[in-house]
Amino acid sequence: MAVEPFRDFRSAQGQVLNARLIGVKGDQIAIQTRDGKTHVLSVFILSLPDQIYVRQAAQRGDLMPKPTTPARPNTPVTPPGSNTPNPTTPAPNPAQPLAPVATGPATIDFTKHVLPIFKASCTECHKAPYEKNNRTIKPKAGLRLDSFEATMKGSTDGQVVKPGKPDDSILLELVALEPDDSDIMPPKGDPLTAEQIETIRKWIAEGARSSVTAAAPTGPVGQNPNEAGPKISPLDTLAATAKVRPLSPDAIAIASKNGAQVIPLAEKHPFVRMEFVSIAGSISDSEIGRIIPTIRFNLTQLDLSKTQVTNKGMLNVGKCRNLTHLNLRDTQIGDEGLAGLRNLENLWYLNLLNTKVTNRGLSTLAEIKSLQEVYLWQSDVTASGVQELRAALPNTKILF
Ligand code: HEC
Repeated sequence: MAVEPFRDFRSAQGQVLNARLIGVKGDQIAIQTRDGKTHVLSVFILSLPDQIYVRQAAQRGDLMPKPTTPARPNTPVTPPGSNTPNPTTPAPNPAQPLAPVATGPATIDFTKHVLPIFKASCTECHKAPYEKNNRTIKPKAGLRLDSFEATMKGSTDGQVVKPGKPDDSILLELVALEPDDSDIMPPKGDPLTAEQIETIRKWIAEGARSSVTAAAPTGPVGQNPNEAGPKISPLDTLAATAKVRPLSPDAIAIASKNGAQVIPLAEKHPFVRMEFVSIAGSISDSEIGRIIPTIRFNLTQLDLSKTQVTNKGMLNVGKCRNLTHLNLRDTQIGDEGLAGLRNLENLWYLNLLNTKVTNRGLSTLAEIKSLQEVYLWQSDVTASGVQELRAALPNTKILF
């Protein structure tokens, strides 16, 4: 397969990045910008049309993981065109090897292995502000290294640790400088030992996780480091646990008769994505009601944005118990509609941008503990409502 051309990738939030797709692995993609730099990110950061583009390009290039391909920890993203994933296949630009995607089991635990190093050599200058002689002493460079969250938050200049990318992590760079370099950290006292530096390097390479059991934070490059990055999709777990039959030809026929486009998400499981992109404006509860019964267990991603669906239609959507992604952007959906979704226990991404949802509806969302990303811009919720939701779902990325 030819290398994918350069194009504008749009994030779900509307940011644009001109790049080309060079690899897909599970839910992670590698794209290359014109400066030759490679970025690995979660496909779900992308706008929905771009997610489809990626899925289709992946299928064209036979990039979807085969059931026979064992998941290999820390193998690079497979470049398009190579049918057998081969960790040594060079990236299109040999000077910029693909960053490995940290999906394997981690061995370095932040609290157990990394924090003690910081406490011994760093927190004297990089800890929470404190009072001394009636003066407030602030952490140097605004950087606190006394907890996982603070470390990931970074300094006044931004991230100091880039998960999965030790070579791009300034923290590692500074501790690994020559002892006589004036920028070395710590600036005085003994430099870190080679073993300590290796521990930090390995921790970052493994995805800079809070603990060995936590998922790697696979945040997009350049996003607000205060926000937790999108996490690993639950699809694989779902595929393993939910016994779902392949979608029947009847179901596909009914869906397409009612204007839906059904896109398989992978070869290895029967889950699909459904959307109405070009004719969304003419889709109402009745089409949804006709399609859902035959497809509901296979449906994991549903894009109803810009359709005419109403709160009542959400009762049908609420029956799709394997739904992980639901886009209701630019619809009339309000609090009553959300109430119909409360049993979706695999729901991971929910887009409510420009909907009629108010604070009352947020109490329904607070019950959906699986939620990892919720978009609430231009809805009728208020800051205090969002604050309560954040308290109820502390690990969820809530964009408001
Ligand atoms: C004696 C005080 C002191 C100690 C101990 C210390 N630092 Fe620093 N650190 C500083 C100062 C001061 C700066 C700001 C330097 C500058 O802006 O040029 C800084 C800056 C940094 C930065 C750069 C932040 C940025 O974004 O520019 C990092 C990363 C860092 N330190 C990590 C560490 C680590 C890791 C350790 C322990 C191994 C450590 N520091 C120990 C004083 C200290």
